[in-house]
Amino acid sequence: MRYSIESMTMNDIPRVIEIEKLAYPTSQWPQSAYRRELQENQWAYYFVMRDIRYENQLTTAKNGGDKKTQKLFSFFAPKNAAYNPKVDSIVAYAGLWLMVDESHITTIAAHPDWQGKGLGELMLIHLIDTSLKIGGFRLTLEVRVSNFVAQNLYRKYGFVAVSTRPHYYSDNNEDAYIMWTADIRTDQYREMFEGHRAKLINKLFQEG
Ligand SMILES: CC(C)(COP(=O)(O)OP(=O)(O)OC[C@H]1O[C@@H](n2cnc3c(N)ncnc32)[C@H](O)[C@@H]1OP(=O)(O)O)[C@@H](O)C(=O)NCCC(=O)NCCS
Repeated sequence: MRYSIESMTMNDIPRVIEIEKLAYPTSQWPQSAYRRELQENQWAYYFVMRDIRYENQLTTAKNGGDKKTQKLFSFFAPKNAAYNPKVDSIVAYAGLWLMVDESHITTIAAHPDWQGKGLGELMLIHLIDTSLKIGGFRLTLEVRVSNFVAQNLYRKYGFVAVSTRPHYYSDNNEDAYIMWTADIRTDQYREMFEGHRAKLINKLFQEG
């Protein structure tokens, strides 16, 4: 599969912010918030996903490459001349906080050019796997009432809206749904989760 998920590092933050500006045009976290999360919050778990094929293209072009590759690169390459293929090939990110035995998803986003390809779902699967490992046995999050795409993704993985937080989003005063999963250790949850995971992995492998 052409995608890999790793823990977010300080070097990744500028690219994460770049994606965040595109994925959440009306509200972003400042760089300092990510720095604090990575350096000071021992209960925070943040991840980035790389598109390995894109990373290889950027690396080939950076190292010279033939004319065709250079041309391709001039289309793909970030305007910033000091590009770093390892960082610029990040296409999605996500994070959660472990609070006792619950995982609170704080953010999840894919670069708009990579949305609708199963990567948001792959990232959510990683968060659920991580939660199981670290002892977060129910997951929760807030989502804009207008964000049907994200709600569909969450519902697919067993999240249910249990209440509404009025005017939660300060940019437009929008309400948030608070969504929760059931206990992710149950056989019923595992069966649903593994079924969706197998289908997605199969699809991503077939795409190369
Ligand atoms: C929400 C987001 C992370 C989903 O990631 P994605 O890579 O675009 O979505 P995926 O391709 O993984 O799709 C997974 C599921 O999401 C839902 N979904 C995705 N695109 C959709 C669309 N255009 N319309 C309706 N539902 C959609 C579906 O349930 C889909 O499952 P399916 O393929 O079985 O139908 C991504 O769209 C994004 O970054 N959005 C902007 C930031 C954001 O809103 N984050 C969530 C904040 S709470």
